[in-house]
Amino acid sequence: MNHKKTILAISLILASGAAICAKKEDSTKPVDIVVYRSPTCGCCEKWLAHLKQNNFNIQDIVTDNVQAIKDKYGVSQEMASCHTAIVDGYVVEGHVPAKDILTLLKTKPKVIGISVPGMPKGTPGMETGEAKDPYDVISFDRDKRFEIFSNHEKD
Ligand code: CU
Ligand code: CU
Repeated sequence: MNHKKTILAISLILASGAAICAKKEDSTKPVDIVVYRSPTCGCCEKWLAHLKQNNFNIQDIVTDNVQAIKDKYGVSQEMASCHTAIVDGYVVEGHVPAKDILTLLKTKPKVIGISVPGMPKGTPGMETGEAKDPYDVISFDRDKRFEIFSNHEKD
């Protein structure tokens, strides 16, 4: 089973589960996300393409001052990457895989958001074809408590 089919199968299972539980949320509904990015950043656009492929509905805001957005939402130096996104009140910083965003929305941890600090090779939008960097998605809060949200050492 290829990756797309797997995702489709999972979404179908989730959709039927939601129907049985009579949940309000429709898992096939696109996820709304606001992305702030710099006009000069090519990898940001590639990350947006990754989100689109994963059924995200993007409000794409191009700005010369992404730093102001990071300051506003409490993205510290340690957590900073290129773009900053807001989804359902959470911050998503940098090249976070769509899968992790969906987990965030489902598990709703008490954090400001999640980040892939810097720009590791091999993250969504940073596929260079070269060796990939192992990386973690980190959750963070206002007190600079950083925790590993998910580990991507092997993918
Ligand atoms: Cu980037
Ligand atoms: Cu970016």
